[in-house]
Amino acid sequence: MFYPEELVEEVRSKNDIVDVISGYVKIQKKGASYFGLCPFHGEKSPSFSVSRTKQMYYCFGCGAGGNVFSFLMNYENFTFPEAVKELAERVGVDLPELEYSKAAKEEADKKGILLEINKEAAKYFYYQLRQPQGRLGYEYLLKRELQEDTIKKFGLGYANKTSNDLVLYLKKKGYKDQQLVEAGLASADEKSGLHDKFWNRVIFPIMDINHRAIGFGGRVMGEGNPKYLNSPETLIFDKSRNLYGLNFARTARTNNIILCEGYMDVIALHQAGFHQAAASLGTAFTAGQANLLRRYTQNVLLAYDSDEAGTKAALRALGILRESGLTGKVIDLKPYKDPDELIKNLGAEEFERRIASAENGFLFEIRILKEQYNTSDPEEKTKFHRETAKRLCQFTEEVERENYIEAIASTYHIGYDNLRKLIQSYAMKAGTVKPLERPKSGIQSKIGKEESSRKNQRLLITWLVEEPYLYQKVKAFLTPDDFTHELYREVAERLFVGLEQEDFSPANLVTLFMEEEKQRQVAELFNTKLNMLETKQEREKAFHDILVKVKENSLEYYSDRMGSDMSAINQVILGKVALENLKKTHISLKE
Ligand code: GTP
Ligand code: MN
Repeated sequence: MFYPEELVEEVRSKNDIVDVISGYVKIQKKGASYFGLCPFHGEKSPSFSVSRTKQMYYCFGCGAGGNVFSFLMNYENFTFPEAVKELAERVGVDLPELEYSKAAKEEADKKGILLEINKEAAKYFYYQLRQPQGRLGYEYLLKRELQEDTIKKFGLGYANKTSNDLVLYLKKKGYKDQQLVEAGLASADEKSGLHDKFWNRVIFPIMDINHRAIGFGGRVMGEGNPKYLNSPETLIFDKSRNLYGLNFARTARTNNIILCEGYMDVIALHQAGFHQAAASLGTAFTAGQANLLRRYTQNVLLAYDSDEAGTKAALRALGILRESGLTGKVIDLKPYKDPDELIKNLGAEEFERRIASAENGFLFEIRILKEQYNTSDPEEKTKFHRETAKRLCQFTEEVERENYIEAIASTYHIGYDNLRKLIQSYAMKAGTVKPLERPKSGIQSKIGKEESSRKNQRLLITWLVEEPYLYQKVKAFLTPDDFTHELYREVAERLFVGLEQEDFSPANLVTLFMEEEKQRQVAELFNTKLNMLETKQEREKAFHDILVKVKENSLEYYSDRMGSDMSAINQVILGKVALENLKKTHISLKE
């Protein structure tokens, strides 16, 4: 942390979160919290909550959340020190001049050098493309129907056939071997020493949102393996937090972003006038990328390959988009493989029509789901209906759910009332509305299980924060180690100490986590909601169930580790006793 912790805490506690956020968002008191329209995603009914007691905000729609610092960091795009500074000024707290730690400064310097090296390399590749030795590359790009303007806009280049000319060039500029390796542009081998990572390929520089080259993709000209070679991750190149083409797409002023799979797709789309196209970087779409997109748009149109792999990837991406509060739709590219080919064959106007008729993400999922069942067989048909009903449970807002039920019932000729009943029975069984089920596979079901165990851990923490008197009743059964997710365990450790001393501030805890993603997760931890619980008996049962589930999960977790970890054995022995006792104990809640 840059400022002393006490000072940061002073600034935070003097800035009441309700007052600060009121300056940005219209919020109204409703029960214990304030509610308004979320500034971080588009919505029509308020799911953005601000709590004076917790001094935190949380959006039940998109999951944005944190304390007053996180709010300014997200809303104003401030860094943490900038947010502290702004709020210190607001309440008249004097801050000392900022001193960067030595380590922070070294890292900043190192990043600066890597950016410089990448910039030099990008210029070098670009120049080579227009030299006689780059003719092959240039001709390849022309064959792909790229225009000169497009080649320029994306800074496309060429890596020569010789295997170390870039290394020699950069060394002449004064960079050291080690730095070239760290930039991902060179690798060393014992026989021939340092050599170029890219050779005899056309080069696609990968830019961050500020148009700085952070990595490269290189394509063979024609057939060859691997077709694309990408820079490895480096200090400045995090593949899960950048998107190819986003530097242009973010200012396209359309109300959507088109997400595709390949560099060539992005380029072809831009050339055809779709300046809102971007792509992930040869890896699967991630939550970090969804967060990035959310800064610029609410609507993401997927233009993934129309083959089986592309469909699978689209399903996965839809899940991630939904969890991030973004609306995902799917563009149909058939009979072509990808956007590049579609545009080449049918032109930009046809693509425009395909955008207009993009399919709702959920309806796409259900359509693909149906392909897994032979619905002329009554048993399989029933399974399809059940699975559909289960998935419909994810819509917590009634109007939305009703609309989907209607659409699905009529498309698939399912009795509307029957479908509704089925959904109700699943919702009751689950107690809460279930998280999205991803496509089936061994790994996926493991993820499902892990997510539900995490959810229980979150519920328990929220419950303890909202009803702190419960801590005394459960502490005999529960330890922070029962929270098997690392971040949750860290939070639980501090929470338990705080609850023991009857002095705990959730908002203070958020400050201890520097990354936006972690702050969101901590906010989520304190705001996980139990639905559909009315009576005291129901709530007591739910609380007891959750406690038992967290305990059981912890037992399983440590049992798996007993072979390699001595302390795990202890956890298991104590855990078994605690679980037995817990099952016999009634924990009563206040009205
Ligand atoms: P072309 O049109 O054939 O040039 O490629 P594309 O843009 O249609 O890409 P494709 O759909 O084949 O692949 C999508 C993305 O996956 C590419 O942009 C690359 O980032 C990545 N990719 C493709 N092939 C390879 C490979 O062989 N190795 C690696 N590491 N990444 C690849
Ligand atoms: Mn292609």
